[in-house]
Amino acid sequence: MPENPAIDNLLNETRRFPPSKDFAANANVTEEAYAEADADFEAFWAKQARRLTWETEPTQNLDWSNPPFAKWFADGKLNAAYNCVDRHVEAGKGDKVAYYFEGEPGDTRTITYADLKDEISRGANALIELGVKAGDTVAIYMPMIPETIFAMLSCARIGAIHTVVFGGFSADALSTRIQDCNAKVVVTADGGYRRGAPSALKPAVDKALESCPDVHTVLVVERTKQDTHMQDGRDKWWHDYVGKQSSEHTPEAFDAEHPLYVMYTSGTTGKPKGILHTTGGYLVGCAYTHWALFDLKADTDIFWTAADVGWVTGHSYIVYGPLANGTTSVMYEGTPETPHRGRWWEIVQKYKVTILYCAPTVIRTFMKWGEEVPARFDLTSLRLIGSVGEPINPEAWIWYRRVIGADRTPVVDTWWQTETGSSMIAPLPGVTAAKPGSAMRAIPGIFTDVVDDTGKSVPNGSGGYLVVTKPWPSMLRTVYGDDQRYVDTYWSRFKDVYFAGDGAKKDGDGDVWVLGRVDDVMNVSGHRMSTTEIESALVSHVKVAEAAVVGATDADTGQAIVAFVILRGELPEEEQGPELITELRNHVSTQIGPIAKPRQIMVVQELPKTRSGKIMRRLLRDIAEKREIGDVTTLADSTVMDLIQENLAKST
Ligand code: WT7
Repeated sequence: MPENPAIDNLLNETRRFPPSKDFAANANVTEEAYAEADADFEAFWAKQARRLTWETEPTQNLDWSNPPFAKWFADGKLNAAYNCVDRHVEAGKGDKVAYYFEGEPGDTRTITYADLKDEISRGANALIELGVKAGDTVAIYMPMIPETIFAMLSCARIGAIHTVVFGGFSADALSTRIQDCNAKVVVTADGGYRRGAPSALKPAVDKALESCPDVHTVLVVERTKQDTHMQDGRDKWWHDYVGKQSSEHTPEAFDAEHPLYVMYTSGTTGKPKGILHTTGGYLVGCAYTHWALFDLKADTDIFWTAADVGWVTGHSYIVYGPLANGTTSVMYEGTPETPHRGRWWEIVQKYKVTILYCAPTVIRTFMKWGEEVPARFDLTSLRLIGSVGEPINPEAWIWYRRVIGADRTPVVDTWWQTETGSSMIAPLPGVTAAKPGSAMRAIPGIFTDVVDDTGKSVPNGSGGYLVVTKPWPSMLRTVYGDDQRYVDTYWSRFKDVYFAGDGAKKDGDGDVWVLGRVDDVMNVSGHRMSTTEIESALVSHVKVAEAAVVGATDADTGQAIVAFVILRGELPEEEQGPELITELRNHVSTQIGPIAKPRQIMVVQELPKTRSGKIMRRLLRDIAEKREIGDVTTLADSTVMDLIQENLAKST
């Protein structure tokens, strides 16, 4: 269990925030939903499946005959893109806005459901012309622009599996993912806008493809119009090649269990895992939770998930959930401080955003910038605000509600993961008297528990490991190409339950307080980072012999990456200075991406190890967080910590 003294204070939190009478009276979901789902969870989900339009209605619910490989609605057939787009057009909502796109430089686009249908039909026709077939994979490496969504839905329309790689990842990270899923087509852009300047993407693709000989086509969206190398025979401009296609395309229905996408996420080993989501169950999970937890009123709400489409939050709550529900969304390309620190609030005011969904890390940044910034804008349109990605500390929760939500809107803290596909633990906005800092309890149809080392449910007031005790529709189906890793990672720690990798406590009422990862995974600004992956990146540098990485508590980013390295051979002291540290930080950035750059790198002579050679990260965390060093009795050499501290004292 992660030791977290702060949590005991948290559990004494007595503030409660019930919904207003008005909000509760008009809420989509009432308290009865829990009892209904508890009585028969399969029937509950079968009912939610009716939110979608099936070409063949499913008669089966859950098939758990071969655990932990679940099938949901297996005899049903549907097309995901049809559900997200065409059916709304057919229902007379073609002119309804699907996205208000706000580019960082201030350019805007309005995309209706009819526009979306044309765009993704052209995209589907283009992919077919390129020889992409159902079940093939397509890699998408893009900035936050509408074409990213067009590309995803074009794939879904023809049954191709998309794998979106976050644009902040490096060429190396991109090539590993392309190779792992065997993609032959890549969709990218010349670049995107970031902090007021164009930032190129295409060069990273060119570099990645040096080690991906099977990729025959790269479709390049023109966004920044910067100088872009186009390789003859391989690279095609999106506007030429997709632009010339017909906007007529008839979607074909696929099995509910047909793969929809793969999203790579960091695990406890160096190699990222390709989390596989399939069509029917995933869409049901997204559609239901988007409707229930955000209290979505599709006719009037303006919904904004301020996240990147390249993460699961974007997949489920910028693309699939909102579109399945026929929502009008805002999509913003850039950073919150460009060109000024009020940019988000200007966007809320401009589009009259009613629901905002973002991460605690950015909320803490806004706190730092001061409440006078949002105060300059009209935020009265907001009626619900959500949080995701990491534990939200009560002070940030309270600030969010008071300053952004005018002390009026429900705050919906949602716990979930890339693997779970959609939200799992969250308050019901019209029902729950929320506690600041707690994600509260499993939503209707989802069953979670906190268990001890032996897998036994802990009593209220105690902590343990967070598990999911029944299968759910939007659960991952496997690790792409590696069923064994799926079984080992999620279903082997405890018998018959899904191990989430998080520690949690139940308070006196049985409400859940998620503490964070119990494995070697860090959460930096809501992004999942593997300590081992960063360690491998560091040791791949010629001057590094050994590395240990820990996540240290950080007031802004939740956790920050702190690395301890042992240098190779006898590097003269003058070569161990700040330049080397910069060089190592940049090395990690090229290996994985700028988001993986350690906040701090400390050069040490030794690392604390147990007798079996396992690095004791707990002790390194003590140093990184400037704490008294904990128990060192299990160290192979108990003097190591003194040595490290002496060493660091000398160098600082
Ligand atoms: C990990 C999953 C879910 C989309 C974004 C992250 C942490 C996520 C919460 C929350 C406390 C949270 C967990 C989880 N996490 N949401 N509301 N409260 N912790 O997806 O990259 O797959 O990371 O993020 O540690 O395991 P992800």
